[in-house]
Amino acid sequence: MIEYRTLRVALLGAGSVGSQVARFLLEDGDELAKRAGAKLELVGIAVRDPEAPRDTDLPKHLFTTDADALILGADVVIELMGGIEPARTLITQALDRGADVITANKALIAHHGPELFELAERVGAQLLYEAAVAGAIPIIRPLRDSLAGDRVNRVLGIVNGTTNFILDRMHTLGESPEEALRIATELGYAEADPTADVEGFDAQQKAAILASIAFHTTVSVDEVQREGITGITSQHIRDAARSGYTIKLLSVCERAVTESGEAAISARVHPTLVPNDHPLAAVHGGNNAVFIEADAAGDLMFYGAGAGGVETASAVLGDLVTAVRRHVLGGRGLSASMHLQLPMLDSDRVLTRYLISVEVNDQSGVLAELAGIFSARGVSLATLEQSIPVQTALDAPAADAAEQPEAEGSVAPRATLIIGTHLATEGALKAVVEDLRQSAAVRAVTGVLRIERGA
Ligand code: NDP
Ligand code: HSE
Repeated sequence: MIEYRTLRVALLGAGSVGSQVARFLLEDGDELAKRAGAKLELVGIAVRDPEAPRDTDLPKHLFTTDADALILGADVVIELMGGIEPARTLITQALDRGADVITANKALIAHHGPELFELAERVGAQLLYEAAVAGAIPIIRPLRDSLAGDRVNRVLGIVNGTTNFILDRMHTLGESPEEALRIATELGYAEADPTADVEGFDAQQKAAILASIAFHTTVSVDEVQREGITGITSQHIRDAARSGYTIKLLSVCERAVTESGEAAISARVHPTLVPNDHPLAAVHGGNNAVFIEADAAGDLMFYGAGAGGVETASAVLGDLVTAVRRHVLGGRGLSASMHLQLPMLDSDRVLTRYLISVEVNDQSGVLAELAGIFSARGVSLATLEQSIPVQTALDAPAADAAEQPEAEGSVAPRATLIIGTHLATEGALKAVVEDLRQSAAVRAVTGVLRIERGA
């Protein structure tokens, strides 16, 4: 019989994810010990309120409010509290003492990753964060390790389960965003402050993490362009569906070549029109999916649960086994390679496609005027669809519609034009939208969404 040594595990947080990690540790400890090569003793669980009801039945004696004391003497610290402080200080203290740290905290990794990785490297410990991006889906390790010999050109994905859940329910059930968010919160998908989900901050942090690993470059959160889903109305959803698209909040990280032939990168998060036959359009509920385009490997897709306590606990436990194996085998922890430090491409120079909906007077000369606006900015049209809308309450102009003042005595019937562009720079496309807003031929710009441009 193998004699395993015992490693002390301190758990910080017992919410949606932490309570499941604790349950697995207590229920499957023997099996984990065999896989990891050491016994794992859960020495305590730090929470704010030890008396608060938990998702699972956990032994009361394990709970404490003294996280500082709990991490003393721990071999591995699992941080599942979320937020920046006290998580940052506790992780720093744990690494300083040589403990390995596992976290699912994307906010912390995205904002303070470099200083924490530097500390981990200095002391030879490991800081593992597989659960920080895309919940249960293995994506950090494949990018960092499995693709270490390849060149990644693009990482494109749905990395926020809450917004995917909301958009999916708006598309498939016609549900309101408020009701869908309420259910996502009940399911444990949403952040403590769901603004982080719906305004795209969570996806922005994840994009910064993915771009940093994929391009061996420190990408800060502020360098990721961000737009959330709060501007998406039921009308946008119906228009998208009519044109053969599904709206998804995508994180897009790309390598590009500048006019001078230099490599540069970009990262952005925004609602995107995905063609209905694109695999990302079929990602439903709280699921996530990440596409990677690499030189040698070609296209890879990773799909699965992007949020949820039990699902995310799987990624945390995978990191735990990795950390424990290092303790058993000895040696230093792996560090992320950030040696390239590529420049960020100016956001106006990023190439994309737009689908623009405008309400115009249905009269001669309008199309010619609009075509002139696009051509003056060097933007080529790919598709044009016209409809004479039947006015119903649901077809009222979207909240973001910047309607022109009604011309006195105007009797011209209205028509809606949905214009899809070819690839153009973000700067030129934004200028086109501004010109349309100023045009006398346009009554309102009722929708502007980017179209996933494909590989
Ligand atoms: P919860 O809000 O459900 O739980 C947080 C836990 O941390 C609670 O047990 C809380 O204690 C404890 N806690 C918070 N602040 C303190 C503090 N100052 N001192 C002591 N304990 C504290 O969070 P989740 O489980 O949802 O998320 C945890 C982490 O995992 C976050 O970083 C999140 O972004 C990440 N994550 C979450 C996913 C999900 O689907 N939920 C998926 C992927 C990542 P108490 O219970 O007493 O209030
Ligand atoms: N709030 C996050 C989401 C949890 O909805 O994806 C997973 O990181």
